[in-house]
Formats: sequence, structure tokens, C-alpha cells
Amino acid sequence: MVTTSLKFLGIPGSLRRHSYNRSALVAAQGLLPSGVGLEIFDLDGIPLFNQDTESTPFARLTEFKARIREADAIVFATPEYNYSIPGVLKNAIDCASRPYGDSAWAGKPVAVIGASAGMFGAGRAQYHLRQTFVALNLLQVNQPEVMIGNADTAFDAQGRLIDETSRSLIRQVLENLAEWTRKLKSEPRASHD
Ligand SMILES: Cc1cc2nc3c(=O)[nH]c(=O)nc-3n(C[C@H](O)[C@H](O)[C@H](O)COP(=O)(O)O)c2cc1C
Repeated sequence: MVTTSLKFLGIPGSLRRHSYNRSALVAAQGLLPSGVGLEIFDLDGIPLFNQDTESTPFARLTEFKARIREADAIVFATPEYNYSIPGVLKNAIDCASRPYGDSAWAGKPVAVIGASAGMFGAGRAQYHLRQTFVALNLLQVNQPEVMIGNADTAFDAQGRLIDETSRSLIRQVLENLAEWTRKLKSEPRASHD
């Protein structure tokens, strides 16, 4: 069977140089099913959202929206800040959803992973992130949930993901996202004639 190649866009919700979440996406690049590529888009340079200027976006935001649109599917890797998603990530999501009627997110397949220093693996943040998918009409893969807790031991000093359970969950969610994306691409439109 011939399968089309897919392009995933990984978005880390942290600007930290040694971010565990970014490192999880780097690990994901080595755990992809065949025929799938994953590029990472860092959120540096996305300005704070101001509705007064949403129709004249900064170049970095225009680039971000183009990269989202080019991708077949999105993979978010979110930290947890005070039981929710970091402002940096929420801001970028909001920016790319505007102006009204020109959202870059609508109808994209999406998966979520998360890493945190605490034991819950950014789970609370992941649920807040999943709630935004309803507004954005992002089409999520539900399972497996990938919650990388105690990140200081799940990653080694070089930022490599060494926790085998987490690696296997990432591999599985990427497989499920590829299958989900292909399914959505191949479904014929319903005819109402
Ligand atoms: C403002 C702030 C709030 C945080 N709140 C939480 C939290 O609610 N739960 C948690 O597990 N870790 C929390 N942490 C710790 C993060 O899990 C930790 O900083 C982690 O490394 C962030 O992800 P990153 O490595 O990708 O930057 C918080 C960190 C910051 C800076």
C-alpha cells in the first residue's frame, strides 16, 4: 500500500534554552513512523497579541501562520505553569487564530505531549490546552496521553529523553496522529445533492 508522506509541526510551549518540552519534541523526531517528518517552530519573537494590530501582523507571526498551514498536523509540547499552559503558548495560539475568519488552526489534526518538573507531567496544562481545541476547531488525537513527570530524571544532562515509558508513549501518539491525519485526508466529502 502506498502512503503519502506527512509533515508534522512541533510547537514547544517554552522559550527556555534547555526546555524539557522542546527536548521531548527533539526526541519525537527520532520516534516517528516512516513517511513522517517533524519540524520544530520556536515561539521566540511572536509579539503579544493586540487586537488593534491583528490585521497588520508582524513578519514572525505571518511566518508562524504559514508554517501551521503548510503542516499536515500539529504536535504541541506544553509545560505546566501554575496548573495551566504558559502565557507564551496561549498568546501564540491566540495570535494565529486571528483575525476572525483567518485562523491558521481550523480543521488541523493535533496531538499533545507535556513534560513538567512535578509528578503529573503537565497533565493539568494539557487539559486546559485541549479545551482551546474546541474553540480553534483543532481535531485532536485523544490517546495515548503523554505526561512526562519528574522531568529532571526522565531526561539526561544533555536533554535526551531516557525514560523508556515516555519514549514508547510518544512513539504511539505519533503513530496515532499519522493514522488520524491520513484518515481525515482520505475521507470523501459528504454530498448533500
Ligand atoms: C511560572 C512557573 C510555574 C510553574 N508551575 C508548575 C506547575 O503548576 N506544575 C508543575 O508540574 N510544574 C510547574 N513549574 C515547573 C515546570 O514544570 C518546569 O519549570 C519545567 O521545566 C517547565 O518546562 P520547560 O522545561 O519545557 O521549560 C512551573 C514553572 C514556572 C516557571
